[in-house]
Amino acid sequence: MDGLVALGSAGLMFLAMVYVIARINLPLALIALAVSPFVFVLGHTYDRRMGQTYVRAKELESGAMKVVHEVLGAVRVVKAFGREESEERRFTQRSGESAQAHVRIAAAEGVIVLAVNVTTTVGTALVLFIGIRNVQSGALSLGQLLVVLAYLTQLYRPLETVGGLFAGLQSSFASARRALELLDEVPEVAERSAARPLKRAAGTIEFRNVSFSYNTDGPVLRDISFSIPPKTRVGIVGATGAGKTTIASLLTRFYDPVSGQILLDGIDVRDYKLADLRNQFSIVQQETVLFSTSIGENIAYARPDATQALIVEAARLANAHDFISRLPQGYRTEVGERGMTLSGGERQRIALARAFLKDAPILILDEPTSSVDVATEAAIIEAMERLMRERTTFIIAHRLTTLEHCEIFLSIEDGRLVSVRSDVSLAMRDALLLAAGEVPIQRGKADD
Ligand SMILES: Nc1ncnc2c1ncn2[C@@H]1O[C@H](COP(=O)(O)OP(=O)(O)O)[C@@H](O)[C@H]1O
Ligand SMILES: [Mg+2]
Repeated sequence: MDGLVALGSAGLMFLAMVYVIARINLPLALIALAVSPFVFVLGHTYDRRMGQTYVRAKELESGAMKVVHEVLGAVRVVKAFGREESEERRFTQRSGESAQAHVRIAAAEGVIVLAVNVTTTVGTALVLFIGIRNVQSGALSLGQLLVVLAYLTQLYRPLETVGGLFAGLQSSFASARRALELLDEVPEVAERSAARPLKRAAGTIEFRNVSFSYNTDGPVLRDISFSIPPKTRVGIVGATGAGKTTIASLLTRFYDPVSGQILLDGIDVRDYKLADLRNQFSIVQQETVLFSTSIGENIAYARPDATQALIVEAARLANAHDFISRLPQGYRTEVGERGMTLSGGERQRIALARAFLKDAPILILDEPTSSVDVATEAAIIEAMERLMRERTTFIIAHRLTTLEHCEIFLSIEDGRLVSVRSDVSLAMRDALLLAAGEVPIQRGKADD
């Protein structure tokens, strides 16, 4: 807007001054005008040569901010590895590059402004030269020449403004281009135009020949088919990187399968409204994300309108009420950045309380106990069992204690479904075999 308004008023001013000078003396007006195309040629050349530099400068600028963002997010890791200085160097280097780019731009801007000024000065000199000739020959009075010269500065001022604008506008265009690139990014999944609403799913889930890959380097899931009746507890076992989390991500439509179908209550998940579909799932992950607000608000994240009584009830069910009420400010205790930090087990219980409050028909527990100690695990497992009642549940776990109450087991290996067991002992054996591959420390001979 700044650029457009200035450009408009500069244009009007220019035309008005041309008119005034032409009324006094037409040849002088034409001479004065003769230099103006050069200004536009200069501006155009500048835009062509510098446009990319502006884009690059903005990229470098955000590159430096990215280092700050990354380091502040992982300050403990940086300190623990003693990498403060090297991170500082990384930032200094990136911001140095960005500073250099800005210096180059400032220099180029100086050159264009100078070039435009020289052009208008040449114009003034020409008018003065020819004007004096005319005065000498008596075709023009001295008074008229002085008036023309006075108006000439008014005529050229808009041209100089336009010269400066070329630089300013390029910077704005570069920012706009980056913003538009982000806005044009295609979402991973799109909602169909005639998507159907879904109140509460029964919880039947079927995978039909589902294959998936994140990018072009090969499939992550290959031809997976299984079918789960409602309210079944499904354990998913397999080595790290086998594709377990990916299965959960496909269920909640963070991605769509490359081929095959996923059905919820017999209908392709892509046919549901996205928000309605995701409303059917409660997810508890290995690392629970807490926001820097009170514990109460964190629990009520899925249902911001929940009453205090409901929040407390959910916390009780999740075995979290006791430790929360022992905190000095109870449910109003701030967590996260400026508040207190909670242990892994406490965070998981808040995540479970969230899931109780959300009360979704399908539950996904992705390695929920891997970041908690054995003593806390018991309390969490007890709460989990309560949560699993009357819900279709997928539990991804390595520890057998966590898997104990499952009815069906899917063993995933390298993106393939290698076995489906309903018999607990067989499943446990599969799980054990698979889990054995997970143990990083081989037992020594003395142990055998
Ligand atoms: N967002 C992603 N982009 C690209 N590859 C990914 C992504 N997430 C996971 N992968 C890859 O997909 C494979 C399966 O990952 P994942 O489902 O997380 O395994 P699991 O949960 O069984 O440990 C791994 O090889 C992993 O490197
Ligand atoms: Mg995983």
